[in-house]
Amino acid sequence: MAVGIFDSGLGGLTVLDAVAKRLPDLPLVYLGDSAHAPYGVRTPDDIYNLTTKSTQRLFDAGCDLVILACNTASAAALRRMQEGWVPEGKRVLGVFVPLIEALTERQWGDNSPPREVDVKHVALFATPATVSSRAFQRELAFRAIGVDVEAQACGGVVDAIEDGDMILAEALVRSHVDALKRKMPEPDAAVLGCTHYPLMEAAFQAALGPDVKVFSQANLVAESLADYLTRRPEMVGPGTDSAFLTTGDPARVSSRATQFLRRQITFEAA
Ligand code: DGL
Repeated sequence: MAVGIFDSGLGGLTVLDAVAKRLPDLPLVYLGDSAHAPYGVRTPDDIYNLTTKSTQRLFDAGCDLVILACNTASAAALRRMQEGWVPEGKRVLGVFVPLIEALTERQWGDNSPPREVDVKHVALFATPATVSSRAFQRELAFRAIGVDVEAQACGGVVDAIEDGDMILAEALVRSHVDALKRKMPEPDAAVLGCTHYPLMEAAFQAALGPDVKVFSQANLVAESLADYLTRRPEMVGPGTDSAFLTTGDPARVSSRATQFLRRQITFEAA
């Protein structure tokens, strides 16, 4: 009975934490590919190869359902995985759709034609690979009309977070928000399109100002997973134990994760 949660590194812990609070009895196996983070500066082929390898590791750990708690992998690899790689009886879901459904005021599975929504000017903060995939704009265009999106590729932020250098991460957030505001002076909503960024949510909100509504994914994904498992309870796999796996150095990754989630997290080698 386990669900897998994958990220390139530590960012997916923001999703894991929200899922663990929403579904406390569900065993979760987390895999962070810290040896290869950040993904956001890699090519789509590279991201696809790394993501399929880690997803297979989670299937092997007894998970039938894997959440890609990584926008970069969701943007660059998910569709290709769903079209030709995911084995019979397994499922891989991404993190874009719950976010875009919230932004466009839709319930799960509402496939009605695109319509006007409340937000008109949306700032998207994401990794360079997610921004260049244009996956966010594509998913949004299926659901909303008349929304102007300005995307800001936030180079360096994921590396700083993975290194535990929060002062650098904060300075980079301020400079990326400034750059965005030069292109779109008055966004009415901002999307944190990388699961590392909720760890910097206060810095984003402070730089954007109180009038900008900031959407971040953790709770939206947790809610959407709870809903999915009510409809598809058989997708809870045969694994019974929770675990934290990393391709990086377990001691180093455990100490950063403990610092971020403010509770003891112990990673083991994947
Ligand atoms: N947390 C990831 C995301 O949501 C990963 C970023 C990276 O590895 O560059 O995009």
